[in-house]
Amino acid sequence: MLGIFKPRHPVFGFNCAGEIETVGKDVTRFKPGDQVVASAGLKFGCHAEYRSIPEDGAIVLKPGNVSHEEAAALCFGGITAMIFFKSGALKRGETVLINGASGAVGTAAVQMAKHLGAEVTGVCGAGHVELVRSLGADHVIDYTREDFTKSGVTYDLIMDNVGNAPFSRVKHLLKPGGRFLMVIGDLLQMIDARFRKQVINPDEGTAAEVFTAENYASLMALAGQGHLKAVIDSTFPLERIAEAHARVDGGHKTGSVVITIAPHA
Ligand SMILES: NC(=O)c1ccc[n+]([C@@H]2O[C@H](COP(=O)([O-])OP(=O)(O)OC[C@H]3O[C@@H](n4cnc5c(N)ncnc54)[C@H](OP(=O)(O)O)[C@@H]3O)[C@@H](O)[C@H]2O)c1
Repeated sequence: MLGIFKPRHPVFGFNCAGEIETVGKDVTRFKPGDQVVASAGLKFGCHAEYRSIPEDGAIVLKPGNVSHEEAAALCFGGITAMIFFKSGALKRGETVLINGASGAVGTAAVQMAKHLGAEVTGVCGAGHVELVRSLGADHVIDYTREDFTKSGVTYDLIMDNVGNAPFSRVKHLLKPGGRFLMVIGDLLQMIDARFRKQVINPDEGTAAEVFTAENYASLMALAGQGHLKAVIDSTFPLERIAEAHARVDGGHKTGSVVITIAPHA
């Protein structure tokens, strides 16, 4: 039997933060010693001691008040939230429900939606209610006590970061003109999304627009100005990367898991 599936919690080496070791002879924008954050996009390979990134790729200077761990932790969820809110055209004053508000995407999405002027409802487990509130959520729903899909409260945007609240389960909670941000979906849901204007799924063929210096610069500007704080679940040295993956696979990490790499002597 052929199985087509999307891993529920993939950890990709999309992003990294560190110090420039050396540059090519024609490079003018960066020099050795610069502190940067970068993405190799769908080429991955950032869980490594060294990574080369083209000068015109997704590489930007890191703000001095943001650590390397914080910068790396912000990228996966932060860029995802940014792209989905942009594609979903989130506007000031709109109401947004974020399912899975305490994960990497969720913690960034709560803060970003508040910064964009939305009224935010976060959904997470009991142990994360205070965290999500502290990130700025106006309302927090503990999914162990309440099923938000049965509440009857409607929203302009619903973002599903968990996969247990697909469009079919929440469409009755969308206000007229409302949008569903499908951060996670299986193959059938992705195909179905192509025929529904309400379902936002910017996954498709947009990597070139996602992993850009412009997006990473915007993200780092938000972090440097204090509008976006990294939430770090745990850090593991590269040698223990299997444990890091196991932690992510559990589905209940708080924010991001960071891989650290000791500088060479
Ligand atoms: N489409 C894209 O471009 C894109 C980009 C990035 C990520 N993703 C996907 O987005 C998903 C989220 O990534 P992530 O790193 O943010 O995940 P994560 O950190 O593992 O977050 C999981 C979140 O789900 C919550 N949760 C677990 N069970 C739940 C339930 N039954 N009901 C409601 N909430 C529940 C957890 O809260 P508690 O711990 O409190 O239970 C936590 O907030 C992943 O599947 C990832 O592959 C997609």
